[in-house]
Amino acid sequence: MNIIEIDQKYHLQVYKRFPVVFVKGESVFLYDENGNEYLDFLAGIGVNALGQRYPEVVRAIKEGADELLHISNLYYTPSQALLAKELVEATGLARVFFVNSGSEANELALKAARRYGMQKGRFEFIALKNAFHGRTMGALSVTGREKYKRGYKPLINGITFVPPNDIQAFKDAITSETAAVIMETIQGEGGMTVMKEEFVKEVREITQEKDILLIVDEIQTGMGRTGRIFSYFHYGIEPDIVTVAKALGGGLPIGATVMSEKVAGVMDFGAHGSTFGGNPLITKVALKVLQVINEPQFLESVEEKGEYFRTRLEEAVGGFDIVNEIRGKGLMVGVELKETVARDVADEMFKKRILIGVSGDYTLRFLPPLIVEKEHIDMVVETLKKVL
Ligand SMILES: Cc1ncc(COP(=O)(O)O)c(C=O)c1O
Repeated sequence: MNIIEIDQKYHLQVYKRFPVVFVKGESVFLYDENGNEYLDFLAGIGVNALGQRYPEVVRAIKEGADELLHISNLYYTPSQALLAKELVEATGLARVFFVNSGSEANELALKAARRYGMQKGRFEFIALKNAFHGRTMGALSVTGREKYKRGYKPLINGITFVPPNDIQAFKDAITSETAAVIMETIQGEGGMTVMKEEFVKEVREITQEKDILLIVDEIQTGMGRTGRIFSYFHYGIEPDIVTVAKALGGGLPIGATVMSEKVAGVMDFGAHGSTFGGNPLITKVALKVLQVINEPQFLESVEEKGEYFRTRLEEAVGGFDIVNEIRGKGLMVGVELKETVARDVADEMFKKRILIGVSGDYTLRFLPPLIVEKEHIDMVVETLKKVL
């Protein structure tokens, strides 16, 4: 049996995989078993912000492996404390806890928000339709797409979903029991819908007024993806809780829940924990990733390349009958089609050895490594033009 056959026999078949086995990667390219080269414009669904084998990340992994692999959270870890400091400074919030994935980061965000809210007897959450916040029971409960929840109900109760960018629906959803609102500023899984500035600002004003917490899920949009270190910087707001994962670990699994002092205040000894969360190796690597990305020049280059990408797409395919809209921020770019053929287009791009994603049935999703060059963008745009 070859690798694909072994996987299909023994692994849970919950992913509709592309028929390829990758064995090597370098920068923005991946290589299959036969040495074929693929240009990667999905970056491990937004994880490989620095591409494959970024030299400083590889060095940090090797050094970390030589030093200390695991000690548990019963003891202090230098890289964990230093990463905590840098993440707190980068977000403008007060405290952080490290977990192992995006879902877990949201799980803690919901737990902390509920604890905070329960001081006033508030336990409900408002989330957005089409949102994606993860697969654990709590994160799934605030995920606004039914297809992910089929067969898993009852999930946690007290959750109201409102359409993105609909401030009236948001106001109508608030009750005296509302503890928190959770949202992505660009819905990564749910159609690449970009939140409007007025909507986000008004949500923040109302929540602040009513002492309702605002949780911003930066798992896909964060770590420089949109041209700012976190996407809420585009909106001039400060959330109460920010969740981070994906790109933070440079390819290793880590999540982080960053919170304001008032939220942190309800999380006392024993309120939460994690065996692997913030372990020495991963936090050492994440510290390096954060330092590389959180540089003004690096972030400006993301913004500039993102603008170039969207302009080139507009010129090349914007006028096509099948294209509805090209949208996004920085290097988080969506092309919405008028028909439900997004996966077919991704399959055709794959045959031409370019990896892209989809977001719902209508929308193509581009999340290239942030170190991508304009010549790679040109290759993708030209190929997409032919495929469409
Ligand atoms: C916005 C957002 N939140 C949460 C998650 C869940 O993260 P994980 O798969 O690491 O649990 C994802 C994953 O795609 C995501 O895009």
